[in-house]
Amino acid sequence: MSTTIDLQLPSAVVGGKNLTYYVAVGSVLFLAWAWRNRNPRSVDAPFYEAPNLKWMFDAESLILDSYSKFRNKVYQIKATEGVQVLIPANLIGELKGLPEEVLSSTEAVSEALLTKYTHFCPGHNGDLLATLVRKQLTQSLTRLVPQLKEELEHITATEFPECKDWAPVKFHPFGLRAVARMSGRAFVGAEINRREQWMDTSINFATHVFAAVVKLQHYPPWLRPIGQHLVPEIRQIRRDIAVGEALLRPVILERLRDMEEPGYEGPEDLTQWLIEGLSEGEKGDLYVQTKLQLILAAASIHTTNNLLTECMYDLAAHPEVQEMLREEAYQVLEVEGGWEKKESLAKLKKLDSFMKEVQRINGNITSFIRKVVKPVTLSNGTHLPPGTKLLAPQAGFSRDADYFPDPSSFDPLRFYDMRRKSAEDSNRWQFTSISDSNLNFGAGRHACPGRFFAGNEIKLALSFFLLNYEVRLPEGAERPRPMVIVMSKMPDMNAELLFRRRTMMD
Ligand code: HEM
Repeated sequence: MSTTIDLQLPSAVVGGKNLTYYVAVGSVLFLAWAWRNRNPRSVDAPFYEAPNLKWMFDAESLILDSYSKFRNKVYQIKATEGVQVLIPANLIGELKGLPEEVLSSTEAVSEALLTKYTHFCPGHNGDLLATLVRKQLTQSLTRLVPQLKEELEHITATEFPECKDWAPVKFHPFGLRAVARMSGRAFVGAEINRREQWMDTSINFATHVFAAVVKLQHYPPWLRPIGQHLVPEIRQIRRDIAVGEALLRPVILERLRDMEEPGYEGPEDLTQWLIEGLSEGEKGDLYVQTKLQLILAAASIHTTNNLLTECMYDLAAHPEVQEMLREEAYQVLEVEGGWEKKESLAKLKKLDSFMKEVQRINGNITSFIRKVVKPVTLSNGTHLPPGTKLLAPQAGFSRDADYFPDPSSFDPLRFYDMRRKSAEDSNRWQFTSISDSNLNFGAGRHACPGRFFAGNEIKLALSFFLLNYEVRLPEGAERPRPMVIVMSKMPDMNAELLFRRRTMMD
């Protein structure tokens, strides 16, 4: 399995050993540059001036610094992919409810992920996919938890080092496979999920899309139809879809046959829900099914593992927090027999708060990616013409003392304490709750429908590790720092933690 992203630009340029060639390429690049700089600055809001390189390589400090200057105001940043308009938390409320024909998430995501080349787009099935995740998958959670636990126990037994005594382990790559394995059980069902080829494809599809986008962004838009042929990940994406199709084919065909039998009850997984939910013409369309499966894998596996890994780093760095959360897990899951009980993961309220606090500090740099389709005028008078690209400076909100008192301190019980204030607060500050100043799962009709599933997977994995292992940082090591590539923030993938197996008597 390889998840390495090679960000080198193509080193060999076809046909390029004479001066005319270089002059032609140079002129074309100059025209592209000049065209970009003639782009009208059509929104009446101040600019935060920063070099493009900062956007590419130091986006978090750029967002934090710009937010500290403008805070409750709309402002703009010139980024690699054009001007971005940054929306403060106090104006998110009036935008998040606007319909897709006015403010589009799909168009914004398609542009950002260059779907024309990467094919990363559910197309007209986007709403269906989100609805199946929000409704069917979330409603099946209680029944799914024992199956996910079975997958986690299996992968830990077969792939996690024994750790009889303290042993170094890179948690990130293990977490990736553990999350892929748990999610796969709910998405494609037990049979395909156990195939190594599926594990590999479902993990690496997102990596190929991401690497393709980063490489394609180095070409101006009009050069991309040619540039795509120099990006190997574009071919890899097509291969991933072909591999997925070959794996899904026998299962889908068998289910379609079985469904003709009266009284047939299909298994509880996304493959089945897609067969039932897709139009008659698309039920048996393997390409459509495979793309939707891989898009969902890409939206869910890395995001979930990123947070799971950051949580593990904080457990290793804070032994006292580890002990407190272990006690809670022991009480709810072992003493009260919670592994088998409905809703027991919801009872892990301290763990819930810890996960939310880890996400507050290590979560998204920006969120709420949208494109204006029809003109919008905000209540502060700012006019947003069609074509305007919007973002919310989430890293700024997360460290704003008005929203989160003493924001620079890591307080694992911050949200636990907030939840105890009233019944309303108890709902408001759960891990899965969203608000205008907490957009780590987005906002409005496109808010992440998989957050309940993600929350359960992370709670399950953390509880399992708390009860079965102790974890700490290697001698003299600091808590591993997140890495930032453009707007994406991810945990240090190579950091080692020390694990030691516990017995229930410890
Ligand atoms: C900690 C893990 C996760 C994080 C931080 C996360 C975050 C996000 C964010 C920020 C969005 C965009 C929301 C917006 O623009 O308003 C999103 C959308 C989405 N997420 Fe997640 N996600 C996670 C896990 C998952 C999982 C496990 C699934 C599937 C089971 C999932 C499925 C989706 C889908 C289908 C969308 C598109 C929704 C739409 O456009 O209507 N996500 N997610």
